[in-house]
Amino acid sequence: MDNLIGKTAVVTGGAQGVGFGLARALAEAGMHVVLCDVDEATLERSVASLLASGTEAIGLTADVSDPEQIERVRDAAFERFETVHVLCNNVGIGGRESFLDPIDVAAWEHVFSVSLYSVLRGLNAFLPRMLEQGEGHVVNTASRQGLVASPLFGAYAPAKAGVIALSEMLHAELSDRGAPVGVTVLTPGGVRSESILATLAQYESGEKDDPEMLEFLRTRVAAAVEPIELGRLTVEAIRSGALYVNTHRETLEWLRERVNRMVADADRVGTAR
Ligand SMILES: NC(=O)c1ccc[n+]([C@@H]2O[C@H](COP(=O)([O-])OP(=O)(O)OC[C@H]3O[C@@H](n4cnc5c(N)ncnc54)[C@H](O)[C@@H]3O)[C@@H](O)[C@H]2O)c1
Repeated sequence: MDNLIGKTAVVTGGAQGVGFGLARALAEAGMHVVLCDVDEATLERSVASLLASGTEAIGLTADVSDPEQIERVRDAAFERFETVHVLCNNVGIGGRESFLDPIDVAAWEHVFSVSLYSVLRGLNAFLPRMLEQGEGHVVNTASRQGLVASPLFGAYAPAKAGVIALSEMLHAELSDRGAPVGVTVLTPGGVRSESILATLAQYESGEKDDPEMLEFLRTRVAAAVEPIELGRLTVEAIRSGALYVNTHRETLEWLRERVNRMVADADRVGTAR
């Protein structure tokens, strides 16, 4: 979708961090923006800052784990702006977990609901209208953890792997049918969001005591990109129809190592055909 000017984007989890970076970049590209978030106070501040920079924006309090709330966001967005051309399914949560401790399956289900099934809720609410209006683009925020998972990421990495797989399936199905809706999946490495900085501060101050995690976070934040940089890459992907957005070249090297290992293992073990 080449021309974004005067069209509307909806960003879930848009009040801060990656979501607000997406919103700012889409606004820079001339779009109207609908932010949806559970954090009302931050949402208000972020909408105010978009309005102050001349963007037409509204904020809607909604939880992506509830399909009815997402449908309300859709209805309010269409009522205010008449069309929605870009949907950013951006919310994702996770925590630190070891498989050596008892696994809390209910907690995994919650992470899957917020980080993976929320994308399905977003698609159910918006995709039919985008197809009907004849133009649109879906942006799903995954993570490089979905491509190359590190230890201790718990339900987060499998949920993000699911977001990547479903984005690839969606992209293939829509392009096979010549449908006028594009798909992009974001697989960022570290992004300097408020939550990652707040988590680092907890470990720096000793409020949380885990030297391994402290080191991991320091390295991650040192190499992190700004949310607006990811937002601008995403705008470029929407314009050029790119399926993948990566923030860090090293992610591609890690992926190559993964494929090399698969090939080496297939050489060692053999394949059935
Ligand atoms: N920050 C990173 O380094 C990084 C790296 C890779 C992927 N990501 C992904 O980017 C996305 C955003 O992460 P972030 O770091 O900006 O997080 P963040 O915590 O800074 O911002 C997330 C926003 O989502 C909102 N939110 C949380 N649960 C919600 C819900 N159920 N319904 C609606 N809104 C909700 C929060 O209130 C917050 O405003 C996530 O999907 C995350 O997995 C982040």
